[in-house]
Amino acid sequence: MTRPHVLLSVAVSIDGYIDDASPERLRLSGAADFDRVDQVRADSDAILVGAQTLRRDNPRLLVDSPDRRAARVAAGKPEFPLKVTVSASGDLDRGLRFWHHGGGKLVYTTDAGVAKLADRLAGLAEVASLGAELDFGAVLDDLGRRGVSRLMVEGGTQVHTAFLASDLADELHVAVAPILVGDTAAPRFLGDARYPGGPHRRMRLAEVTQAGDVAVLRYLPKARSV
Ligand SMILES: NC(=O)c1ccc[n+]([C@@H]2O[C@H](COP(=O)([O-])OP(=O)(O)OC[C@H]3O[C@@H](n4cnc5c(N)ncnc54)[C@H](OP(=O)(O)O)[C@@H]3O)[C@@H](O)[C@H]2O)c1
Repeated sequence: MTRPHVLLSVAVSIDGYIDDASPERLRLSGAADFDRVDQVRADSDAILVGAQTLRRDNPRLLVDSPDRRAARVAAGKPEFPLKVTVSASGDLDRGLRFWHHGGGKLVYTTDAGVAKLADRLAGLAEVASLGAELDFGAVLDDLGRRGVSRLMVEGGTQVHTAFLASDLADELHVAVAPILVGDTAAPRFLGDARYPGGPHRRMRLAEVTQAGDVAVLRYLPKARSV
């Protein structure tokens, strides 16, 4: 069975934060970078975010451009990528925008919470358990079985940290916004972890592009720096 290609996507401030500490979502990117992200979404079979990002940001996770959606349909794909989230607590409200906009919805959880969550999200999403614990390798195996060949992971911190710590990311897009958050109460891109190879392993920098006032760095975590 083939696991999907995994692309992590994040927007960070110059001082490494992905949000501020206020209840409102901080907009880090500008229009040009949102458009770039829209293309990356359109090129993906599935988009995954953690449950806390759903609770905090309440995203729809759509492809906005009608032309990109039409191109997907013309290529024999669904109009929108499959939308995937992960939750152990099962604390996912039926009112979240994620459920009520385009794209199939899939929630991975554990044996302990699957019945409760399936009941809560009846008619809105498929709920699947991957056993006593949720392992992201098992998530990739299952998505591969479902025909997903390109997975975009849009955060947040806990999810991105888990993918990189488990060496499951093939590609990393870091959009650096010219903003200083300056508050250690705000969430960072990544948390503490034993990353493979530690600080001595250098990823390969594949590309640097500009989207408005945002610098987009494309790294290949599994390829060595040359
Ligand atoms: N700037 C950006 O590009 C960007 C993008 C996305 C998010 N963000 C920010 O990221 C922040 C949220 O990050 P976060 O680290 O708090 O949360 P997160 O990574 O979005 O979600 C964490 C949650 O996912 C579930 N989860 C993660 N790993 C799991 C596992 N192995 N098994 C079962 N469930 C698992 C758990 O849900 P349960 O608690 O339900 O068990 C956990 O609490 C927000 O501030 C958001 O704005 C920024």
